[in-house]
Amino acid sequence: MAKIPVKLVSWEEVVEWTRLLAKKIKESGYKPDIVIAVARGGYVPARLLCDFLGVDNLVSIQSQHWTEAAKMAEKAIIKFQYKIDLTGYKAVLVDDIVDTGESVRLAKEFIEKEWHPTELRTAAMQWISSVAKIKPDYYAIEVKEWIWFQYPWTRLEDITQFIRRIIKEELTGKTNKITIQELTQKFKEWYGIEPPPKYYEEALQNLQQENLIQIQDNTIIIKT
Ligand code: ADE
Repeated sequence: MAKIPVKLVSWEEVVEWTRLLAKKIKESGYKPDIVIAVARGGYVPARLLCDFLGVDNLVSIQSQHWTEAAKMAEKAIIKFQYKIDLTGYKAVLVDDIVDTGESVRLAKEFIEKEWHPTELRTAAMQWISSVAKIKPDYYAIEVKEWIWFQYPWTRLEDITQFIRRIIKEELTGKTNKITIQELTQKFKEWYGIEPPPKYYEEALQNLQQENLIQIQDNTIIIKT
């Protein structure tokens, strides 16, 4: 069993899930005039929803709760608190996933208070029902057991963070050397997936830049 279960999401799945989300919104009879993306995760699903729903208006709000892959920040915050007037607009607020629900809850509260849309509903591709404090009005997939969805728009960021975490939590102070093959094996044990080759290499380069490791041929030297 993986320590942190990860599902590697493809672009095709994103299109499929967003299409399903659009279908559910249409079938409910709700006709939004504007889509609001929760930055950053909601950007791609929001743009696709605009296409599938035939909506021209797209804005965003940055509500942040998760600072690193699979690591939650203490508190969600709204960054860049600009004000716009959405009086007369029916809006749909879109994020990639509702996990704890804190980012969407906070964004919704801010928008209702400061932007005054006529109506505001929430949508996400995934809803982790076992942990979320809120249920989005629309979701494509209900997830019962917590898992990290590795979406295509955070591939490099996540893979880098996944390796950083193995190094910091398992290797630092215990060993000063590991081969790339051994690290690949650890990656599989931790996350239950093969590291995607192109991203793996670039992630290792990033960590070398950070001075966390040094790569010599096939060996990774862990810096102390
Ligand atoms: N952001 C917050 N929770 C997440 C999860 N479980 N998977 C991917 N991205 C997330």
